[in-house]
Amino acid sequence: MIRIAVLVSGSGSNLQALIDAQLSGQIVGVLSNKPDAYALTRAKNAGIDTAVIEHKHFPTREVFDQAMHQQLLDWQVDFVILAGFMRILSEKFVRAWEGKMLNIHPSLLPFYKGMHTHQRVLNSGDVFHGCTVHYVTPELDAGQAIAQGILKVGPHDDANHLAHRVHGLEHLIYPQVVEWICRGDLHYVQGQAIFKGQPLTDPVQFCKF
Ligand code: GAR
Repeated sequence: MIRIAVLVSGSGSNLQALIDAQLSGQIVGVLSNKPDAYALTRAKNAGIDTAVIEHKHFPTREVFDQAMHQQLLDWQVDFVILAGFMRILSEKFVRAWEGKMLNIHPSLLPFYKGMHTHQRVLNSGDVFHGCTVHYVTPELDAGQAIAQGILKVGPHDDANHLAHRVHGLEHLIYPQVVEWICRGDLHYVQGQAIFKGQPLTDPVQFCKF
């Protein structure tokens, strides 16, 4: 069974979806950079070990990341899941976990990297929006995309409603991708995702129109 850590900063609804999915792997720890993240309560309710490492107590990003890295080693983690973890990671940390770390981002990458994705989609008048699960590489939100959840923007969608709809898709696709990892269906070899024995050329799409 692979040992998974989930990194969080906030509500942790994606963490909850991963817990509820009863994965073939084991979530052995939940690490937050915010002591008041509700995700920590979700983890405790599920009997999962938690750690709080507050970035503001560290002089540099690199030293903070080293403390997180040590916690992951202490938990003997095989794989790291970023689930609403709102810190940019240092290159050294990312390189240490490259191919063993996934993120979920609330847009159809490569479009709308960074923050405030829902409002930016509305401002642009886009027809489609969604979320992307991708491997984490040193460049922000730029690692290979594995799966995308896609929805159609409605005439009455505002940023809050879109966020809610995108969350629904996230809770669908993230546990699915993590389960592929747990079952050995998804690997990362020299910067390339291998899915069920074949190089993955395009992200797997889940559409909800
Ligand atoms: C999710 O929508 C996730 O895509 C986003 O934060 C939210 C966390 O929600 N992540 C990012 O924006 C990362 N750049 P949650 O705490 O309820 O899982």
